Amino acid sequence: MIVFILFFSTFASGLSFTNYNFKRKNNFPVVGIVSTPCDDTFNTTGARSYIAASYVKFLESGGIRVVPILYNYTYEEIDFLMSKINGVYLIGGKTKLTSVIDGQEYWHEYLNKSAYIVNKVIEKNRNGEYFPYVGVCMGAQLLHIALTEHCECAMQYTDALNFRSNLMFTDSVPKSRLFGNADPRMLYEMAYKNITYQNHKYGFYPSLYTDNPKVSSMLRPLAVSYDRLGVLNVVISEGIDIPFYATMIHPEKPAYEWFSLKINHNITAIEVGHYFATFYATEFGKNTNTFGNYTEYQKYSILNHQVYYLHRPLEQAYLFF
Ligand SMILES: *[C@@H]1O[C@H](CO)[C@@H](O)[C@H](O)[C@H]1NC(C)=O
Ligand SMILES: *[C@@H]1O[C@H](CO)[C@@H](O)[C@H](O)[C@H]1NC(C)=O
Ligand SMILES: *[C@@H]1O[C@H](CO)[C@@H](O)[C@H](O)[C@H]1NC(C)=O
Ligand SMILES: *[C@@H]1O[C@H](CO)[C@@H](O)[C@H](O)[C@H]1NC(C)=O
Ligand SMILES: *[C@@H]1O[C@H](CO)[C@@H](O)[C@H](O)[C@H]1NC(C)=O
Ligand SMILES: *[C@@H]1O[C@H](CO)[C@@H](O)[C@H](O)[C@H]1NC(C)=O
Repeated sequence: MIVFILFFSTFASGLSFTNYNFKRKNNFPVVGIVSTPCDDTFNTTGARSYIAASYVKFLESGGIRVVPILYNYTYEEIDFLMSKINGVYLIGGKTKLTSVIDGQEYWHEYLNKSAYIVNKVIEKNRNGEYFPYVGVCMGAQLLHIALTEHCECAMQYTDALNFRSNLMFTDSVPKSRLFGNADPRMLYEMAYKNITYQNHKYGFYPSLYTDNPKVSSMLRPLAVSYDRLGVLNVVISEGIDIPFYATMIHPEKPAYEWFSLKINHNITAIEVGHYFATFYATEFGKNTNTFGNYTEYQKYSILNHQVYYLHRPLEQAYLFF
């Protein structure tokens, strides 16, 4: 993995990084977000699971509609929804994925369902259906856990809670789907202007993508960054044959989250978010699944649920009781 240097300069304002040079089959993408168990965050509200509204607003800003996939849905319900939607978006959050009782390790139902979804995504794509999986933060961790069949080696301690940093791009970027058509000025801003935000304790070391065949055969790293202790981590990767996207940076936060003072809200940070939202919309738009009619979609839309104004630690969240 070679990290390359960008020579492009940039202008301060009026930027638009959006690239429209893509083929789309479907201008009505609908995406599933798996809800996060409330065992840590919002555990006092009595809600069983939640979805931070920022992820929903972020996807909506790209022209994507959202249906919730509650993590406790049955496998049949998940199969049904995955036959109607155009991809899945696995989000960040904080939850205990495993517990040890009497020396025996148990997987949280949320971990089981996420791993099931990852394997289903692989199966669909291998059967010729283009079905993207995007994982942000814990959603990226869940992807790595599932691909390695829950190997301890998948994630390593990193000091990147509430952390802003610069990125370094790898030599896979020019031929990548995610950044292959990106405006070099955007990569320059991400590389040098300290606009990307991370908030996690467990990341991925570059060696995972060279030494572990289960990972190296599936994902290629696109960007790395140092954590607070100077440890190098892979923060953006994409699937080689399968449309997986995994980011430890949060493209949705600059426009929609205000509690942490570390989040950069300047115009370039917002434009980077727009780039990701419209890129993902185009990826989801390559899938042609449909609910068939509006009434059928409407039954499952996240807009049936109430959104709560909280500010801390998230501006708004959908709570599922
Ligand atoms: C965005 O924020 C970064 C870091 O504070 C700064 O270096 C950059 O110039 C800002 N860009 C704009 C367009 O304000
Ligand atoms: C909620 O989670 C926090 C953080 O893990 C913990 O300190 C607290 O005891 C939990 N509260 C309940 C009611 O479970
Ligand atoms: C998770 O999956 C494991 C093995 O596939 C199974 O033994 C366990 O019962 C499942 N746990 C839950 C909560 O579904
Ligand atoms: C990035 O910005 C944060 C927040 O202002 C600051 O703490 C950090 O030192 C900056 N890092 C770099 C590499 O400029
Ligand atoms: C919408 O689709 C559902 C499920 O396929 C079907 O049962 C229903 O009759 C359709 N409604 C209309 C108005 O076409
Ligand atoms: C899942 O949890 C919700 C509450 O969040 C509940 O209404 C629903 O019945 C549960 N579904 C299953 C299959 O357990």
